[in-house]
Amino acid sequence: MPTTPDRSSFPDTRAWIRALPALGGETPPPVDTLPDAPTTLFLDWITQAAAAGVPEPHAAALSTVDAEGNPDARFLLLKDVTEQGFWFSGDTRSPKGRELAANAVAALSFYWREQGRQVRVRGPSSKAIRHSPPATSANGR
Ligand SMILES: Cc1cc2nc3c(=O)[nH]c(=O)nc-3n(C[C@H](O)[C@H](O)[C@H](O)COP(=O)(O)O)c2cc1C
Repeated sequence: MPTTPDRSSFPDTRAWIRALPALGGETPPPVDTLPDAPTTLFLDWITQAAAAGVPEPHAAALSTVDAEGNPDARFLLLKDVTEQGFWFSGDTRSPKGRELAANAVAALSFYWREQGRQVRVRGPSSKAIRHSPPATSANGR
């Protein structure tokens, strides 16, 4: 693991940021070796990330768009993957809940540093009561 350079030893933020170690994971496999079904690939990759000890491999950035078209994003934990899509939970009264009500589209971004892999999922979202009301689940792909 490369050491993180001490910020005080750099002349400015730009120089320090650019010196931070990055992209040290494995080289991603060629696209033509990947399975055709995106969900199969996602489940393979998250399984491999978990087996490799990646902390919180089910953590993802959820991106939404508000009523004015402004983007927003925050991290959350994936709750399930089914034929209906990718499931997450949150409060319908929260900003993300309001944004999904105004604009029923979402994107999820996963990053598994150790494998040098990222997955993005995007599409329509829908609200469903599942497991523990009043939390709201939504799926998107
Ligand atoms: C690792 C991690 C996991 C999180 N998991 C969830 C989650 O599953 N559901 C949720 O509503 N918020 C989760 N949060 C909190 C959200 O990032 C966010 O702060 C909160 O939901 C309010 O978001 P909003 O103001 O955009 O609605 C998590 C935060 C972190 C850092």
